[in-house]
Amino acid sequence: MKFAKRMSRLGTESAFEILARAQRLEREKGIEVVHLQIGEPDFDTPRNIRDAAIAAINDGFTHYTAPAGMPDVRAAISEYYAKLRGVTYDPDQIVVTPGSKEIMYSLIMMLVEDGDEVIYPDPGYPIYKSVIDYSGAKAVPIPLREENEFRLDISELEKLITSKTRILIINSPQNPTGGVLTHDDVERIYRLACDHDFLIMTDEIYSRIIYDVEYASISQFDGKQERVIVMDGLSKVYAMCGWRLGWGLMPKALAQGVIRMQTNITSCATSFVQKATIEALSGDQTDPGKMVTEFRKRRDVFIEGLNQIEGFCCTKPHGAFYVWPNIKKTGWKSLELSEYLLNELGIAGLSGTAFGAEGEGYLRFSYANSIENIYKAINRLKEAMPALLKAPVKSN
Ligand SMILES: Cc1ncc(COP(=O)(O)O)c(C=O)c1O
Repeated sequence: MKFAKRMSRLGTESAFEILARAQRLEREKGIEVVHLQIGEPDFDTPRNIRDAAIAAINDGFTHYTAPAGMPDVRAAISEYYAKLRGVTYDPDQIVVTPGSKEIMYSLIMMLVEDGDEVIYPDPGYPIYKSVIDYSGAKAVPIPLREENEFRLDISELEKLITSKTRILIINSPQNPTGGVLTHDDVERIYRLACDHDFLIMTDEIYSRIIYDVEYASISQFDGKQERVIVMDGLSKVYAMCGWRLGWGLMPKALAQGVIRMQTNITSCATSFVQKATIEALSGDQTDPGKMVTEFRKRRDVFIEGLNQIEGFCCTKPHGAFYVWPNIKKTGWKSLELSEYLLNELGIAGLSGTAFGAEGEGYLRFSYANSIENIYKAINRLKEAMPALLKAPVKSN
């Protein structure tokens, strides 16, 4: 089949591919795989939200809605941010989509032309680069370094800005590193955006999965609400990845464009899921709190275990639910080691290179899995690594 040329520029997310391969190994070879590859909470969606969705179906919310989202849902999102961040958005600045991904896709496709530049984090969520490449703009990586706790370095960012820079994408807490930008970081980034006149797309999908530190949203600096686009959603905080519900907060003119994009792509987010969103955001928040407490426990167990493995060294992430161990001292390349771990040890994680060139020398494991399974993976690694260090596989 002949695809359009632009398809060759579209990337993918290897977590889904590794999941399929791990499941095949389980099925065909009977290997018991520890699943640490996917960025999806393993908890059930809270009962009150499920009940709200069921009630909405029974009440007839099974039809198309306005492409922007239902008015009461946009109002609930506006109230949520007023409470959460002290920032008030007019509902006309809010677009509800099936997952926050669509916000990023729509805005990049709407805003950039060939020759424009979009700066994105490397390592970073692979869909950023994929969509920038697809749009025809130039994808400019900003490296996130371990010595800076995987926060972007502002002076390095400054050097990457040109007259063609249209958008900077930031993500805090970050996938895959768990790095969290400080108040000072986001204030300085915002000032740069004003000085050089570019937009900031802030991916805040993990903003409530945070440990030890205070969260700072760059949206809080954008008093006139003219420069910052927030993408967020229910997937991670409420364990609702499969429900597909996200939203964007942005200047009204941009919202009009995203609504037009949505009219062309999906028409609207699922109506009864939209209704359940009101319950998620304004109902009882005990379950999301419990999930974060459990994630913190798992993080601590995982970090302690990884730092006992020969050749591994892992900084403590302040947010999200991923660990990002440095494996440079093992002598293995990231992809080769991740393949070995999957095929020989039954540990499904991702090569750091799945998140960009700067991911070489790292692996990503998700701790959206039980403490028991995290120990299982640690024990397998502890046992196997000493022998593997002696005979590292050399790459070409
Ligand atoms: C950094 C980041 N942004 C966005 C998404 C997509 O979220 P959604 O389910 O809202 O489309 C993910 C999912 O893994 C993610 O890790």
